Amino acid sequence: MNFHDSRRIEEILTAAGHEAVTDATRAELLLVNSCTIREKPWHKAISETGRFRKRKSRDHALLVGLVGCVAQQEGDRVFKLLNGVDFVISPDNYQQLPAVIAHLQERGKPACITGFDRGEAEDFLGVQEVRSHEISTFVTITKGCDERCHYCIVPSVRGPERHRDADRIVAEVRGLVKRGVREVTLLGQKVNAYAAGGVDFAELLRRLDDVDGLLRLRFTSPHPRHMTDDLIGLYGRLRTLCPAIHLPVQAGSDRVLAAMGRRYTRADYLRVVEKLRAREKDMAISTDLIVGFPGESQRDFEQTLSLIGEAGFSSAFSFMYSPRPGTAAWDLHDDVPLVEKERRLAAAHVVIDASERRFRETLPGTRQDVLVEGKGRMPGQLTGRAGNFQIVNFTCDRPFDEVCGRLVPVVVTAINPNSLEGRMA
Ligand code: 5AD
Ligand code: SF4
Repeated sequence: MNFHDSRRIEEILTAAGHEAVTDATRAELLLVNSCTIREKPWHKAISETGRFRKRKSRDHALLVGLVGCVAQQEGDRVFKLLNGVDFVISPDNYQQLPAVIAHLQERGKPACITGFDRGEAEDFLGVQEVRSHEISTFVTITKGCDERCHYCIVPSVRGPERHRDADRIVAEVRGLVKRGVREVTLLGQKVNAYAAGGVDFAELLRRLDDVDGLLRLRFTSPHPRHMTDDLIGLYGRLRTLCPAIHLPVQAGSDRVLAAMGRRYTRADYLRVVEKLRAREKDMAISTDLIVGFPGESQRDFEQTLSLIGEAGFSSAFSFMYSPRPGTAAWDLHDDVPLVEKERRLAAAHVVIDASERRFRETLPGTRQDVLVEGKGRMPGQLTGRAGNFQIVNFTCDRPFDEVCGRLVPVVVTAINPNSLEGRMA
């Protein structure tokens, strides 16, 4: 999400006549795009912003801005936390960046713009200038979240859920395809809860599947309780829908899932997994996990470990629970000691690694359609992702320019730590 936002910021500033530099020491404007999902990135954002202070004492014309979720969370408190910050702007207000920068260049006062918009279509701002060679890109379809999982700060920093008009999404994707994009990842905090003007998420996918020239559709992140049978039934049926899904489960024990406010049980989740695999046998299912949520016992945690095996995840991100202000869980006693959270995280990593290995070991000898995106590291190799999201480096007798942005059938020949190797079939 923040990566995509950084791109939007770059688009807005480029359109206003600014230029991105790769060497930060040459920059006249420094922006820190911050995350506050856990306490650690919050600290990082504050300390990164603070680091720029030193430079500012030497270079008085330098402007320093804090953007992203910490900007929304802290607002003008940032000016008290840190000297030398010129502006604080939250994600729904990036359109105002050029005006704020111009105002500061005229020696205006520090500015703070936070709060949420009412969701006019242009506020979603799609990717306007697709860089050359861009094959795969993101399209935001919903902003904010009303789910309010008890640990999660997103609803308070990204605002209420707002869904974009389906016709505009389809038009944007058509425009992107005209400019060479072949793969689109739909973005939303709870992307599969999309509903606007009588169009639900499954219907939106059907409409996008009809876009000529679009080769692949992905989305992130869905919520398990919105995995309807209609949506699951599209796997294996829609031409563009990839056999991969990132479906955050968070925990394996019903007690903890209830305490987290997730509104599904372990059995519900596993049923969704089973239905997905019934449609796409080799589907790559990945997840997010939180360890050490308040009240999580050793037995609860073991249920998370066993769920990883049962679901057969192709990969998983795991995090230690971090209390966030303003969430329902903030008032709970954070009773799992840090050393125990660290132990559980390490134990989860061992089981995740094994599950990941089991998934990848099924791949040698299989045929995968790879969307070619670039040249590989070794001479003569090309690179891209398989439908299951694995990176594949492969040998190919066709020139890069001929196959770039196309689906090429590849036989997987070997597994490397972070990628697969193969040859064109
Ligand atoms: N503590 C730890 N992990 C969290 N996540 C969200 N909020 C918290 C928190 N307070 C994790 C969830 C989510 C991912 C993006 O971050 O696993 O899916
Ligand atoms: Fe946070 Fe996702 Fe839950 Fe929304 S659905 S509150 S973004 S974890």
